[in-house]
Amino acid sequence: MTRRLVLIAAWSSAAAAVAGCAGNGAGLDANGRPGSSTGAVNGPLTADFASIQSHVFTPICTVCHAGAAAPQGLRLDAANSYALLVGVPSTEVPALLRVKAGDPDNSYLVQKLEGHAAVGARMPFGGPYLDQATIDVIRQWITDGAAPPAATAAPPGFAITAVTPAPGDAVDARPSIVLALSQDLDQTRIDASSLRLERVGPSGAAAGSVPLRLRVPAGNPRALLALPLSPLAPGIYRLVVPAPPDTGLASIGGERLGARGDAQTLTEFEVVPPT
Ligand code: HEC
Repeated sequence: MTRRLVLIAAWSSAAAAVAGCAGNGAGLDANGRPGSSTGAVNGPLTADFASIQSHVFTPICTVCHAGAAAPQGLRLDAANSYALLVGVPSTEVPALLRVKAGDPDNSYLVQKLEGHAAVGARMPFGGPYLDQATIDVIRQWITDGAAPPAATAAPPGFAITAVTPAPGDAVDARPSIVLALSQDLDQTRIDASSLRLERVGPSGAAAGSVPLRLRVPAGNPRALLALPLSPLAPGIYRLVVPAPPDTGLASIGGERLGARGDAQTLTEFEVVPPT
């Protein structure tokens, strides 16, 4: 049985943006308000996800947070951002969710934007920073329940649109593994066999597999979180969707993943010892 490395990065329309990680505050006007200097984006910023995406995440954050090199695996392009934010643990402070629906104070995203997160720099990295009025709109969206964007443009077909850690990433012993999906998952069909995390031996063959706890993040059925049950020893790991009929990953509409008949390697990453 062949295993194909699915090149997730190539699927990201924003991958080309990775090169320009300049931190020059593109998209912000002199007052730290997004969009108003270019006047381009769909009316004023409002407390809904589509508006925040088009006023903040796309013009300002995807300068860095896009493609396989996105910092901390956090891609903020429109195809990936919701799945990787809502209900998903932060990489820097795994005890906090990036967005905790209903609770902006305990949402790591807000802490990073306001500059009081426990780890790393204020966002956008290097400034200029968002003004408090803009951050308050993001807070309001979270307070209101962090609803997803209206499902007008649901892509056809059930597919994985992003995987964290991305191929080639170096991570610590307790990575949050997150799949972003194009459609809502059927939660009743997720079980221990839905995904496999293999330790890769010197020959490239699997040298054992690591038990995972799989769950759909709270309020975010287009994502799947896979948490290793114990810390990972340093080494190379790959995440595999078993071949049908084993795979339990299916969309709410009954479409299955891995219908091509092979086990698919979704990502291969390295666990490095703490520095
Ligand atoms: C110039 C590049 C750059 C820009 C622009 C940028 N970031 Fe970041 N971001 C980083 C880097 C680098 C890190 C990791 C280091 C750190 O946290 O200081 C990071 C980390 C983060 C994290 C932590 C992720 C986690 O899981 O722990 C969040 C949240 C975040 N950024 C949100 C944003 C948002 C929202 C924007 C846009 C308003 C933004 N960033 C713009 C470079 C950038």
